[in-house]
Amino acid sequence: MNKIYKSSQIGLVAQLLQSGEVVGIPTETVYGLAADISNKQAVHKIFTLKHRPANHPLIIHIAAINQLEIYARNIPNYAYELAQHFWPGPLTLVLEKSDSVGSWVTGGQSTVGIRMPNHPLVLSLIEAVGNPLAAPSANLFGRISPTSASHVVSEFKGNLSVLDGGPCQVGIESTIIDATHPTTCSILRLGSITPRQIKERLVEVNVDDSLVVTKRVSGTLKYHYAPSKPCLTFNSRDHLEQIIKFYGNAIDVLAFNDQFNIPGLNVIKMSSDPSEYAQKLYAQLRVADQSLSKAIAIASPPLTAQWSAVNDRISKATAKSNEILASSLLGLTQA
Ligand code: TXA
Ligand code: MG
Repeated sequence: MNKIYKSSQIGLVAQLLQSGEVVGIPTETVYGLAADISNKQAVHKIFTLKHRPANHPLIIHIAAINQLEIYARNIPNYAYELAQHFWPGPLTLVLEKSDSVGSWVTGGQSTVGIRMPNHPLVLSLIEAVGNPLAAPSANLFGRISPTSASHVVSEFKGNLSVLDGGPCQVGIESTIIDATHPTTCSILRLGSITPRQIKERLVEVNVDDSLVVTKRVSGTLKYHYAPSKPCLTFNSRDHLEQIIKFYGNAIDVLAFNDQFNIPGLNVIKMSSDPSEYAQKLYAQLRVADQSLSKAIAIASPPLTAQWSAVNDRISKATAKSNEILASSLLGLTQA
């Protein structure tokens, strides 16, 4: 059964989740593919639907800060400090799990990712279900995360019920912090809450923002969040012209200034504000992916701290195609 449910139908959606269904849910970051954490079969369905490797842990979504202690243990003081300051909000804390979290949620790990999302509808839903919701982003593994209910419907070809909470306000996935160490925390995934904001809160704690790659955090894989057609970055008009030579000018260009308005190209105008850019990025990549164009070319945003989360997502969406083009150009030069 599949259906888009409105906010007034939250009771029905809670019943679906209680009966072991997987449902698409809104959050402020991206839409999630949710199941009741206590239901092993339901959580298992998430992995199957998403084609996600079974050892990739899921984030659990709670409705109140004091629920943290039910699902995690040995919580460092700095983790409380972060939760109190940033929740509800786009921050996930990885903590030692308590026995209330089944290993089916955590990919067999002894830690659990927890966050309290900043979306009134999903907070009411979690309360109505009576248990936290395990939810990865509601995209197929490796694809672009959905930021509207209709994206979720198209991602799963209509085989999923979705609670419609409108377009996501943040638009990229939460910042993830490993808070399992008593005195050092590490940033595992960039998000709209920046390393600088974390450091400002935690003056006495060592914050490691070197983004050490772990294969359990799929968002840290080099290739991720990718459209299905070639998707590349460029940083000058010359560079864009190289892409045109290679793919022709049936290209969608994402850019926030007008210098790339080359006749024949379809330029999708982006915001020059990093938060607004992030909010629209995935939606615009979906538009470009579904157009008749042969490829997508993204003008690289500035390499400044404010843009780091956006640049991280862009580099994952473009890593593969950038490599292919670079090696082909090399081949052409060598020929
Ligand atoms: O904004 C978000 O975080 C969205 C919304 C739906 O909440 N969720 C999301 O989930 O992005 P997902 O599964 O697509 O990405 C969560 C990342 C994964 O890369 C996963 O490996 C990592 O968090 N993760 C979850 N639990 C973890 C743990 N215990 N230790 C290390 N990494 C963990
Ligand atoms: Mg994801």
